Amino acid sequence: MRILLTGGAGYVGSACFRHFRRQGIEAFVLDDLSEGHAGAVEADRLDVADIRDTDAVAAILRRRGIDHVVHLAALISVPDSITDPAGYWSVNTAGSMSLLEAMRAEGVGRIVFSSTAAVYAHGFDRPIREDDPIAPATPYGASKLAVEHLLEGYATGYGMAATALRYFNAAGADLDGRHGEAHRRESHAIPLVVEAALGNRAGFDVYGGEWDTPDGSCIRDFVSVIDLADAHLRALKRARPGVMARYNLGSGTGTSVREILAAAEAVTGRPVPSQVKPARPGDPARLIADTTRARTELGWTPRHSDAQSLLSAAIAWHGSYGLDHYLGTRIAAE
Ligand SMILES: NC(=O)c1ccc[n+]([C@@H]2O[C@H](COP(=O)([O-])OP(=O)(O)OC[C@H]3O[C@@H](n4cnc5c(N)ncnc54)[C@H](O)[C@@H]3O)[C@@H](O)[C@H]2O)c1
Repeated sequence: MRILLTGGAGYVGSACFRHFRRQGIEAFVLDDLSEGHAGAVEADRLDVADIRDTDAVAAILRRRGIDHVVHLAALISVPDSITDPAGYWSVNTAGSMSLLEAMRAEGVGRIVFSSTAAVYAHGFDRPIREDDPIAPATPYGASKLAVEHLLEGYATGYGMAATALRYFNAAGADLDGRHGEAHRRESHAIPLVVEAALGNRAGFDVYGGEWDTPDGSCIRDFVSVIDLADAHLRALKRARPGVMARYNLGSGTGTSVREILAAAEAVTGRPVPSQVKPARPGDPARLIADTTRARTELGWTPRHSDAQSLLSAAIAWHGSYGLDHYLGTRIAAE
């Protein structure tokens, strides 16, 4: 197996890359480094390119002798997708089509795609299954759903083996604490609360305090990047030509934002200043994965995705390394 990870210098992608390498797999990274970090992967396995450059992608597939692709490259900010929909359709959807065409040209027939829980309709008060109603509320979710439709077509029409992994909320860090989440403009709850706990931010913003949930904050399903990496490898091994598969990846347990705040305080032993801000457009009250399909078909069990483990890993990473480790600068306190 020779795997190319697009977006492999990013948070989830570099965790997958390191996991694959530890298993002795020949893995390579294609990333434009718009958000990812060269320091997160091995230098001689990184090609800097834009997925929208079909010829460049085809040349990399050929030169590296690739037979499987894990496609993570994307723009990932839900709020930004509302103010810049064209940018999201261009990178996430047209970029994916460009990649698929490069794969078709080079005879590469296996792909695992990073999809998202943002494709689902809102309003579930129970864990969401893969066959539940789809109705993305934002251009981000719509741009990802469109790729699922592309994959369905490429599986049926060209015999591609395609899998969409719908992550819920990726979180945590490598177990040795030397790699982790380092977005330049961070929008995810766990790194933000950890930076506030470490005194690198003035406080932590809770978006929406009056959701219809037990403590009024919204509920999410956090899943470790280590568990995600394991699921990708299982999905690659199970993929079948001409078949498009979809799996939810989450811990299967909902955790409220206030519970994350309390867990950060418990792990660090420090109070974290927080304030309630208006809810953000496109945010649902609760998002919890039903992971029955991934557990039964992929034999996947998340082992590092409880709140305590995720917070401990994130604190080890942000406390000793963090974005500085990749950029050599401090995160500005907000
Ligand atoms: N982080 C989450 O909680 C989460 C949840 C659901 C789905 N996802 C999906 O998982 C994937 C990875 O997310 P992440 O959190 O690691 O984000 P990330 O921003 O850390 O990684 C994305 C990578 O894609 C690269 N990239 C962006 N545009 C590119 C282009 N045109 N050509 C080549 N490379 C490009 C970036 O430089 C970056 O390294 C994304 O597809 C995202 O939509 C993430």
